[in-house]
Amino acid sequence: DKGEYRHYMLKEIHEQPRVIKATMEGRVTATKVLEQALGTEAGNLLQDVRHVQIIACGTSYHAGMVARYWIEDLAGVPCSVEVASEFRYRNHVIQKDTLFLCISQSGETADTLAALRQAKKAGFRAALAICNVPGSTLVRESDLVIMTQAGPEIGVASTKAFTTQLTALLLFTLALARKNGLSEEREAEIVKALHLVPGQVNDVLALDGEIAEMSMRFMDKNHALFLGRGSQYPVAMEGALKLKEISYIHAEAYPAGELKHGPLALVDSEMPVVTVAPNNHMAEKLKSNLEEVRARGGELFVFADRAANIKPEDNIHVIQLPEVHEITAPIVYTVPLQLLSYHVAVLKGTDVDQPRNLAKSVTVE
Ligand code: F6R
Repeated sequence: DKGEYRHYMLKEIHEQPRVIKATMEGRVTATKVLEQALGTEAGNLLQDVRHVQIIACGTSYHAGMVARYWIEDLAGVPCSVEVASEFRYRNHVIQKDTLFLCISQSGETADTLAALRQAKKAGFRAALAICNVPGSTLVRESDLVIMTQAGPEIGVASTKAFTTQLTALLLFTLALARKNGLSEEREAEIVKALHLVPGQVNDVLALDGEIAEMSMRFMDKNHALFLGRGSQYPVAMEGALKLKEISYIHAEAYPAGELKHGPLALVDSEMPVVTVAPNNHMAEKLKSNLEEVRARGGELFVFADRAANIKPEDNIHVIQLPEVHEITAPIVYTVPLQLLSYHVAVLKGTDVDQPRNLAKSVTVE
């Protein structure tokens, strides 16, 4: 039931504060992650993990890309991320102390399941699933499971599944990091920041009107670029995927530092450039990337917090986001991009909940 909402996608975007909270519930105190909440075997299985191999498709793959930044930064454990459809068809090396982590909303994605089964033959320490559907094949075939509590996701374009995956991945990262020397203080700082996320997402949802207005500048465009740096690069990828899926506008994401290595040639007034720029240690570098775009007549749409100090000017539209911790920023910054693509699609009159050619669950190759 869509309730008061015009589309399932919009309803699901608005459910995020609640389902992010539900995904944390019973798994964290005010200051730390309860390891046993990740499964009675978790302590044991995470003990000697020396490498994490993440496998997923589509939006779930983007969640894995964000997690890689967290796992290497906080746990200091090397992490690789690959789309399942590639992984399953190449020869790979899996060390026995590897944690094999599959991320899937449905738990039925054929490529992801095939990758897991193949990796099992090669041997690894344990298989962890981050999944939204209890009793799914992925859940049944994994040693450890962290369920996301997003509830059924009806819209084909994934929204609340993604932000709850990120929440679960951050909890997992902290549990792994504790075994690898993360201090109690740092853990407490991040858990406290995570507790603030549902409220911050609510604040972003309140920007809906501003974002809807911005969306009008996209409806007659054929292409868009999305830029981010660090853990916001996968957020940009997810933003580009959402726009492609539901508005049929071609969109590409780039890590902003790659601009001058090619895509800058595309920039002109017909190529809107969307940027996610929280106030992290890359903000200064990002600003010079933005200058490169502006100097070529590109129109910029920036989501940033006040401290990033990016001023609106001709051709620079800025929507100010709440101040967020650098680690939790990818969760919060995803939301305005979901709203942007939603509004562009509504303006274009496409079928938001059932985009052409796509199925909710990809159970065939
Ligand atoms: C995008 C989308 C898809 C899925 C992908 C994986 O909005 O929904 O890209 O993320 O098909 O699906 P799951 O997570 O069910 O394995």
